[in-house]
Amino acid sequence: PQPTARFTLDPAFAVSEVDPRLFGSFVEHLGRCVYTGIYEPGHPSADADGLRTDVLELVRELGVTAIRYPGGNFVSGYKWEDGVGPQERRPRRLDPAWRSTETNQFGLAEFAGFVRKAGGEPMMALNLGTRGVAEALELLEYANHPGGTELSDRRIAHGVQDPYNIRLWCLGNEMDGPWQTGHKTAAEYGRLAAETARAMRQIDPDLELVACGSSGQSMETFAAWEATVLQECYDLVDHISLHAYYEELDGDRDSFLASAVDTESFIENVAATCDHVGARLKSKKRINLSFDEWNVWYMRSGRSPVTPPEDWAEAPRLLEDHYTVTDAVVLGSLLIALLRHADRVKVACLAQLVNVIAPILTEPGGPAWRQTTFHPFAQASRHGRGTVLDVRPDSPRHTTRQYGEVDLLHATAVRDETSGAVTVFAVNRSRNAPLPLEVTLHGLGLTGVAEHSVLADSDPDARNTFQEPERVTPHPATGTALDGGTLRATLEPMSWNMIRLT
Ligand code: AHR
Repeated sequence: PQPTARFTLDPAFAVSEVDPRLFGSFVEHLGRCVYTGIYEPGHPSADADGLRTDVLELVRELGVTAIRYPGGNFVSGYKWEDGVGPQERRPRRLDPAWRSTETNQFGLAEFAGFVRKAGGEPMMALNLGTRGVAEALELLEYANHPGGTELSDRRIAHGVQDPYNIRLWCLGNEMDGPWQTGHKTAAEYGRLAAETARAMRQIDPDLELVACGSSGQSMETFAAWEATVLQECYDLVDHISLHAYYEELDGDRDSFLASAVDTESFIENVAATCDHVGARLKSKKRINLSFDEWNVWYMRSGRSPVTPPEDWAEAPRLLEDHYTVTDAVVLGSLLIALLRHADRVKVACLAQLVNVIAPILTEPGGPAWRQTTFHPFAQASRHGRGTVLDVRPDSPRHTTRQYGEVDLLHATAVRDETSGAVTVFAVNRSRNAPLPLEVTLHGLGLTGVAEHSVLADSDPDARNTFQEPERVTPHPATGTALDGGTLRATLEPMSWNMIRLT
């Protein structure tokens, strides 16, 4: 057996309240995320608005909060006007980002209805690729103004009396990426973000605005991009975005299981850049982080195509990764990384929600089911609300090719301030050895283990399929006990664990 991993929990080690929007997700017009994903008129479960209620039920169970829309790369060529008003009059358009045909049968009203029924909050991305300040203001007026102006009255004429009152806005998407329609240099984008933010705030000073950070820590321009952009718009925005995707490359599973090492350093680097610019500008404001795209995505290994097999198809099968239990353990570890930085990460979006690198899969006209990755997210969203307590483990370590020596234990803990209950989320990164865990509890008044739930499987490639949708689900652990102020548990090899203490 491994040596024991240990840490201490104490209410004095409070890191931060968890912003519920840390459990956000993302709906892009991409592949089958929207069409035959969340929206499928004619599906046996569809409601009067064409929304699949089987999917809605799973989305509510998943517990997503902020839902980012409509892209992603898609937004950088999108005209929001195409997606409002009578559906039969909406134009069909070419979507350059995903070489697909967009029917525009789903747009702002349908999205707002979906978010309301899902119990979430809309997070609207603006097109700053092919468009600019004027169109951003027009969308803001259409969406949020009560009435008495051309665009707000147009919304009312479209049958929507009450404004959508969208509070959270992304100023473009991945504007540093050469793949982005209308991508820009940092200086160009920084100015545009500043002017868009300034104009939007002239209409509503209380909006929450997210500037685009780089598309990833590996971008050549990373950090310089953030510094230049923030130099232009620091006092006008509230958050800067981070995007990160991970996959197992060259069979290097140990590095893949340690992906959160990269996530944590990414968060710390961007936070440091923000603070550096803030200090240089002598600003009193603190910029928070919106980790508005994160996930496991077999992007380079190409498990599922990123371009349609035939050009300009409608809702083709794109980016439909089928996740293994290994992927779910990594996703759990990424969630732990976000929670550990809840003082800075105020919004985070699992990219994406349905079919496209998503925790939920559907078949057109057929069922919807939970991928392996559904489970850690749903558990963390349900029980990861409250105050994060700092966890500094003394853990056995092993060496990985990509990250050098890493702890086998990756963990965080969240205290529910109302009930006093504490939930420990922990991952054992060892592929073959169980990890004994001992947690010393100080001043928390905890007396028992309410639940120790595990996601692990003897087959690291096990996944949930159409034929076998419940192949991988959490199971209870045995032998976990709280005795004399010490929690003792054994974490199965390569496992995600949720231990609830009351
Ligand atoms: O989530 C898939 C794509 O990844 C998004 O459209 C884009 O923003 C990112 O590169």
